[in-house]
Amino acid sequence: MSNLVANHYSGDGDLAEAIASSFRQAGKATIGLTTVDLASVDEFHIGGRAATLELARHLNLDGSAHVLDIGSGLGGPARTLAETCACHVTGIDLTPAFCEAASVLSTWVGLSDRVSFQQGDATALPFADRTFDAAMTIHVAVNIAAKNRMYAEARRVLKRGARFGIYDVVQGEGGDVLYPVPWARDASISHLATPSDMSRLLKEAGFSILEVLDSTEESQRWFEALATRIAKSAPPVTFRLFLGDAFTEMAMNQVRNLTDRRIRTVSYICQVQ
Ligand SMILES: C[S@@+](CC[C@H](N)C(=O)[O-])C[C@H]1O[C@@H](n2cnc3c(N)ncnc32)[C@H](O)[C@@H]1O
Repeated sequence: MSNLVANHYSGDGDLAEAIASSFRQAGKATIGLTTVDLASVDEFHIGGRAATLELARHLNLDGSAHVLDIGSGLGGPARTLAETCACHVTGIDLTPAFCEAASVLSTWVGLSDRVSFQQGDATALPFADRTFDAAMTIHVAVNIAAKNRMYAEARRVLKRGARFGIYDVVQGEGGDVLYPVPWARDASISHLATPSDMSRLLKEAGFSILEVLDSTEESQRWFEALATRIAKSAPPVTFRLFLGDAFTEMAMNQVRNLTDRRIRTVSYICQVQ
């Protein structure tokens, strides 16, 4: 199963080079790129950089914090946190191609001293108990059936009182998900919990839930705007670089999935009890 997930995200060839080449075609050298420039490709979730900043706001971070990003992808959320909160972030992700590219992208924006990435599985974290001051995970549990193990592992590596921000796609009340979607070409690697499953799983793992924030309406508007941009002219540096041409259909399906409430986007702000 984990190979199927990594294959879904891997694309072909050297991902950092593909991203650099797309920026060059758009008239931008990698030297001088900012985290804002990278966001169209490295903030791989609904709502992009603004959604990461909103989640970060709830984590109460300062410059001394060591944060874990579970399912860090290309590293956009980790770099956004490191840059805006001056904290250190360790990212872990199942997909080797994403971890390698994440490290290269960090050198482009001068953040290699504050973020690091390693390959690993969210359900078996390679860290000692009570290592981190905070953790986040964005659009990752969508691929994980064993969410009980994922959240128990997050709980284990967090210090007492630490915050855990989860921003994820959950199963809505409007019917079955239309595939393909950005996290899965079909149902075989898609594992959506319902909102009530999520609350139960997080409490059973030992978290208090401080806030639940449903952003489905904003997500619908965000995907409608993205689908309109794609229809007008292909944006040069997007998730298409690793998702391939299916990305257009994925974006159209996401508009339907959100409009019909087949999916919802919800954030859970939790604290280790
Ligand atoms: C939709 S992407 C989101 C990436 C990143 N969080 C972001 O928002 O930009 C989902 C990510 O979850 C990772 N992932 C899926 N299952 C995982 C697991 N069991 N352990 C660690 N990472 C996993 C994938 O490799 C992929 O990078």
